[in-house]
Amino acid sequence: MNNTDIIKGLYIHIPFCNNICKYCDFFKIVASEKFIFKYCDYLTKEIHLKKEYFKNIRTIYIGGGTPSTLSKENLIKIFNSLRKVIDFNNIIEFTIEANPLDITPTFLELIISNNVTRLSIGVQSFSNTKLEALGRKHNCNDLRNMFDILRKIPINVSCDLIFGLEKDTFKTFKKDIKFLLNYKVKHISLYALSLEEKTIFMKEFKTNNFKTLSGDESFKIFNKACRLLRNKKYVHYEISNFAKKGYFSNHNLLYWNNDNYIGIGCAASSHLGKLRYTNPKKFKDYYEMLELKSKKYYEFEELDLTESMKEEVMLNLRKQSGIDTLNFFDKYHKNIFDVFPNLNSVISNKLLKYKDNHIFIPESKFYISNYIINKII
Ligand SMILES: C[S@@+](CC[C@H](N)C(=O)[O-])C[C@H]1O[C@@H](n2cnc3c(N)ncnc32)[C@H](O)[C@@H]1O
Ligand code: SF4
Repeated sequence: MNNTDIIKGLYIHIPFCNNICKYCDFFKIVASEKFIFKYCDYLTKEIHLKKEYFKNIRTIYIGGGTPSTLSKENLIKIFNSLRKVIDFNNIIEFTIEANPLDITPTFLELIISNNVTRLSIGVQSFSNTKLEALGRKHNCNDLRNMFDILRKIPINVSCDLIFGLEKDTFKTFKKDIKFLLNYKVKHISLYALSLEEKTIFMKEFKTNNFKTLSGDESFKIFNKACRLLRNKKYVHYEISNFAKKGYFSNHNLLYWNNDNYIGIGCAASSHLGKLRYTNPKKFKDYYEMLELKSKKYYEFEELDLTESMKEEVMLNLRKQSGIDTLNFFDKYHKNIFDVFPNLNSVISNKLLKYKDNHIFIPESKFYISNYIINKII
């Protein structure tokens, strides 16, 4: 790998959950404590091996799966190995993903004393019926208790909500959002349910035992939710993400700005200039890679110039601020309108706006961003 000096973010993948939700196709399993212990050992090996890439790291994100399910011993092991190779004076944000049931005073004390600054919590809903339908193990009361604990602790909180189940309406979804507003949550992610292969929902869908809301209905709910959050002064800074000013996710912005990051852990991806690396997706291969210190295990791809520019457009357009055309020129030495001539017609059709050297999707069209992007690239 080259360009070590410009890697700005570190992602660490914890592929374990206590329970598998019906909608989720992320890389995760339910595993024994022994299995998880071994994984964390190898993770620390990888952190040590890659330390030369962490010199300019500004953000750390431990995601999954559910990192909060790790035992205290395993978390400490990871935190200690990070401290050995990273200068925490340079870290502006350190996020960990958590399941509501794992958020205890002890857990919070542990992560805060180890420099974690931000929690991303899978709330999903406050309705017990909906939580059960999603296959979640927490209920509304657990969430109330969690917020009582969080209220006393100085940490930034982001919460995820899902919408798009057959019975969802704006009225029910509004209740979920209002709960978060009452708890003064500064960062909110709203995810439209996507029906993924190899999930329980997909199996049920194929046997006519599960239905999602129609695209039109979901679109209406989303637009109303956007209006509600806008009125409460949340910035819709990315398709699914809303935050008060000063609370945007710096780490996730690295992805949407098409900046460099390094991923650690089984199946984690790294993005270094034109190069894309993915760690082995099988635990056995991941361990072998670290034992043999061999690069042959990486899934490796080198993007050509056209692919790189397409990726830049795709990622940038997820943000409210869109593509900075001057920045595009600095990066690729090409005028974006010459590279993607369809931009002109898409702008005339009002699917995109062009203002102050920025090309962006207007908020009312965020929901159809994939359709718009496909018209350009
Ligand atoms: C991978 S999870 C990690 C957080 C943690 N494991 C939890 O669920 O509490 C990150 C988020 O992705 C979202 N997500 C996962 N699968 C999804 C799907 N099929 N459709 C929409 N959102 C999904 C959920 O909202 C979830 O909170
Ligand atoms: S949503 Fe979170 S807790 Fe549920 S299976 Fe996916 S990663 Fe695990």
